Amino acid sequence: MKNAYFKLAVPLLISIALAACAKSPEPNSANKSNEPKSAEQIWRSSMKAKNHVGLDRITQTELQKACSNNSDIVANEAQRAVLQQQAMNSVAFPADGNYLGDWQRGEAIAGDGKGLQWNDNPNEPNGGNCYACHELSPKEVAYGTIGPSLKNYGMRGQSEAMLQYTWAKIWNPNAYTLCSHMPRFGDAGILTEQQLKDVMAYLLDPASPVNK
Ligand code: HEC
Repeated sequence: MKNAYFKLAVPLLISIALAACAKSPEPNSANKSNEPKSAEQIWRSSMKAKNHVGLDRITQTELQKACSNNSDIVANEAQRAVLQQQAMNSVAFPADGNYLGDWQRGEAIAGDGKGLQWNDNPNEPNGGNCYACHELSPKEVAYGTIGPSLKNYGMRGQSEAMLQYTWAKIWNPNAYTLCSHMPRFGDAGILTEQQLKDVMAYLLDPASPVNK
């Protein structure tokens, strides 16, 4: 994966840029009153819609808001269970009952950080960028560690329960971890059904480098 450093570097640079913006608002900014602006006001006003990417991207869902504010909703176990069930209900399992595609295509998707940015072609398929957060193949030296290592994931086998768990986790991670940091690859329309099948095969196929 040649682009690994680049892919890991971009989110880092964005975070640094956001932090820098938060610390040094422009002296003559639009805020005429003397009230200090919140960091959110500053970064919101610094972002612009470009090409096919609109500012709706930075509007949180109700669940994301609740998670960010650590609201009572997510602190309450019973309510958390209800919200996780809602996330589970969002999952569309594969229509033909086949969960596993081609691990080689899945490997390319897992290592591809392109898609959904203003300078990407919206007609091309998105990448999954799994390596930004997970170790997968032990041969790959560059990976992020926000998520757990998925090395040897296929050891868990291909029972129906395992296939369903993995599919649902990738479709909408909130179904199992309410305030997960993992993208909702199916629910948010990042990957297609076929791409999800290919990524599933990359995780679960005994021939995949993840399991070597
Ligand atoms: C932004 C970081 C991030 C990205 C990108 C990401 N994940 Fe995750 N993933 C996580 C985190 C964090 C967890 C731990 C559980 C949780 O918080 O949801 C996780 C958990 C998982 C699990 C469950 C692990 C277990 O032990 O049961 C699977 C499977 C998984 N991810 C697959 C993927 C795949 C496949 C991709 C790419 C299509 C991907 N993830 C991309 C952050 C990420």
